[in-house]
Order: sequence, then structure tokens, then C-alpha cells
Amino acid sequence: MNTSIEDIQAVIENAAQKARSETSTEPEPEFTSHVKWPINCTVGPGLEGAIACESKVGFVNGAKGWLIYSGYDIFDLCAYSTYEEVSYLLLHGHMPNAAELKDYNARLVSYRSVNKTLRRLMSLGIEEMNAMASLRMGSNLMRQDFTHLDEITGRARPDDAIGADEDSIPMETPPKGEAHAIYEFKKRKKRAERSDSAEGLEACYHLIAGVASITAAIARTFQGKMPVEPDPELGHAANFLYMLTGKRPTPIEERVMDIALILHADHGMNASTFAAMVTASTLSDIYLSIGSGIAALSGPLHGGANEAVMIQLQKIGAPENANQWVEKRLSRKKKISGFGHRVYKAYDPRARILGPMAEMLVKGDADAERIFATAREVERSAGARFGAEKKIFPNVDFYSGIVYQTLGIRPEMFTPIFAVSRVAGWVARVHEYLQNNRIYRPRAMYSGSFNLKYVPIDKR
Ligand code: COA
Repeated sequence: MNTSIEDIQAVIENAAQKARSETSTEPEPEFTSHVKWPINCTVGPGLEGAIACESKVGFVNGAKGWLIYSGYDIFDLCAYSTYEEVSYLLLHGHMPNAAELKDYNARLVSYRSVNKTLRRLMSLGIEEMNAMASLRMGSNLMRQDFTHLDEITGRARPDDAIGADEDSIPMETPPKGEAHAIYEFKKRKKRAERSDSAEGLEACYHLIAGVASITAAIARTFQGKMPVEPDPELGHAANFLYMLTGKRPTPIEERVMDIALILHADHGMNASTFAAMVTASTLSDIYLSIGSGIAALSGPLHGGANEAVMIQLQKIGAPENANQWVEKRLSRKKKISGFGHRVYKAYDPRARILGPMAEMLVKGDADAERIFATAREVERSAGARFGAEKKIFPNVDFYSGIVYQTLGIRPEMFTPIFAVSRVAGWVARVHEYLQNNRIYRPRAMYSGSFNLKYVPIDKR
């Protein structure tokens, strides 16, 4: 890779500049820190617009294209921080000082070795399975490494849950009008103190370190190679690359991976985060909750899109085929993977970083340059077809795969790598939510029949 850390920083600073200037006319967010309840909002299918919790972990402003982790801008974090600092920030709500970071790093290093989990996982014949399915099982099996959670005293107590039997209390206030709901989150006394315990946090650290090790071992197994033992001298991103490839990465490769991990670490109440939180809200344990997050992330509408993008670009083959491909796809009302977002109606800030980074990294590799040029042409052509008013832009998944390929990573591992990063957001939000837990329980509007009489099968 013929570039420098300073070049990478310059690319990110430039992307930040562009992001600020292009959305400067968008209004500032309505509420930015202290939340004033009740909040009146519009709710749509898929719980679009519904409020699932109050959180200090992170903030996405779709209109302005902002992504904030506990107060810090994603551009700054990508330019100057590390995944260790960022995951600490998400979990603890503040940047670590030198002593806190040293202690945290040592804990992550101590949790990198998940040999017991790997022995169990490998006995399941994962080479014939899908990588995300394997990772989901691996994260669930990690619980066995952490035996104190199996002791009765280590478990969350059912009386920590609040009002678990929702159907026995009067139903919620009906939405006002057709599409409006009023949200009132009353402050309650902290009940689930156990989640704040040292054991609760240790399990979060264990998962942040362990999901990376399991992902690397799965990648190796898929290639018919032995897993690589972690290297305690390396940082999180460098060690992950080392465990994936068996080679110690260059400082540039390490930096690229670190940035990729930072910018996928959290993203509001997305589907996989919500899935993890729903599982955790039943006071199931955090390993099973993260398993739910991994399962939700695997779908092509969510994290699975990064692998789909690469398949799509390889199918298109060359930039000169892009326009016709886009025309055909959109005229058949099919979606383009790596485009569009439920929240962003401005250019996704993560794609703003990954696009120019990919452009810089592919230089000198003819195949990678062709794939990148194809992606740029798809972006140009799709952008022209969608038009400015539709506000559909490339999302985080559009360029991430091209960046991973420059690190020698194969497409089947793109979505698991998303999980290696997002596990920080999942555990941070689960940990935060459990401090004032309420079991998730939305409702469905019943539109089925009543009073049907049972007919024996031979009379139907
Ligand atoms: N390609 C083509 N059209 C798209 C599109 C895409 N990737 N994403 C959205 N649209 C269009 C839809 O066809 C729809 O058009 P219409 O109003 O004419 O029917 C409109 O934009 C709204 O789409 P919808 O799917 O309802 O938006 P959403 O908010 O529910 O969906 C996604 C968000 C991410 C699920 C959606 O953009 C998508 O499926 N993208 C592709 C998968 C992907 O990249 N996922 C990763 C997300 S980080």
C-alpha cells in the first residue's frame, strides 16, 4: 500500500469538510442533549420512528449526515482514535485516561484467547456452514468460557425485571390520530444493578475481544488453515488482522483496519442492536443477546449488504457496464445493494470516509482499481437515476468491501467483520439499557377473524 498515515488522515479531514459544507443548510437537530418528555412522533411500519429507549451511547442525524459516539464526531474518531479507545468510550461514556486505557487494553488482551470456545465450535464442522451462522454459535459458546455466569449468584435475578407480564396491565395509551404516538419514559429507580457489576462489564470486554478471535478462526477454518494464537504485543486491529492472515500487518494495514472497526462500532437503534436489546431485556444473558445481534446483522438489508455489494460489482465486471446494469436493475424495481438508508437522507458519513480511502488503497492493483472504478460508475449512474430529491446515497456497505479486499480479506468474511466492530455498540447499549430495564413488548394490530369453529381435519 503506497500511502501514509498522514495521507489517510488528510482523506478523512477532507471528507469531514465536505460533509459539513454540503449539509450546512439543514436545520440543527431539535433536541441535542437533555430530553424533554413526552415526545410526540410519527410511527410507521417496522417501528419506523418509534422510540425504543433513551441513550447516551450514540446519535445519528440522518438529515445532516452526522454520526456521533458519546459526544464525539465519527470523522475525528476515525482520523485520530483507535478501536480500543472508541469501544471504551461507548461502554463507559467517556474517553479513557492513560491508566484506564492501559487496564482496558490488558483486559482485552487477556480475553483474546478463546480456546475452549474454539474447540467446541470446531467440533461442529463449521467449514460447511455460513460464516455468520458459525459466528453466532461461537458467540453463544463463549459463555462457557465465562463460567461464573453459570453460577446462580452470577445471574440476573427475575425481580430485577420491571412489570414483565405486560398483558395483565391496562394496554398503553392508544396512538393519537392515525400515525402518532406519544412517548413518555418515566424515570425509575435503578433496579437491575447487577448489570452494572464488574462481572457485567467483564462479559462485555470478553465479547469485544472474543468475537474478533472467533471471526479470525472461522476465516482460517474456511481456508483449511489452523487458527492463529493471538499476539499480546499487538493492538486490537493489528492482532485481528494477524489472526486472520497469519502475517503481522504493516502500520498502514493496521490503521485501515482500525478505521473500519471504528466506523462500524455503533449506529443508533439499528436492527441488530435492537435485536440484541430485545433479547437482553428478557434478562437472558449477554452472550445470547449478542448472538441475536449477529443473526439480525446477517441479513442482506443490514450487514449482509457488504458481501452482496462485492458480488454485485464483480457481476457488473467493469465501469463501462455499470450504466446499463443500473438502468436494468432499477427498471425492474430491484434494489442496488449498498445504497439507501432508513435514517440517512444525506450522504452516509461512513461512506464518505470509506469511498476515498478505497480509492487511495486500490492504486497499483489493476483488479482492485477496476472494481473501484465500477463502484464509482454505479454511484454516478444510480445517483443520476434516483435524482437529488430521492436522497438515496451509498451507505457504509458500498465501499467497505473494496477496502477489506485491499487487506486480502475474502467477501464471506465482510459481514462477520462488521460484527467484530459492532459488538462494541451492542454490548454498550445492552449494558446501558439493563440499568433501567423494561422488557420490550410492542403490540400488533389484530386484523384476523373471530369466532371460527374448529373443524376436524377429515371435514376440512
Ligand atoms: N436501490 C434502489 N432503490 C432503493 C434503494 C436501493 N438500494 N433503497 C431504497 N430505494 C427506494 C425504494 O425502492 C423506495 O422507492 P419507492 O418509494 O419508489 O417505492 C424508496 O427508496 C424507499 O425505500 P425503502 O426500502 O422503503 O426504504 P427503507 O428506509 O425501508 O430501507 C434500506 C432502507 C437500507 C433497507 C434500503 O435502502 C435497502 O434495501 N438498501 C439496500 C440494502 C443495503 O444496502 N442495506 C445496508 C444498509 S446500511
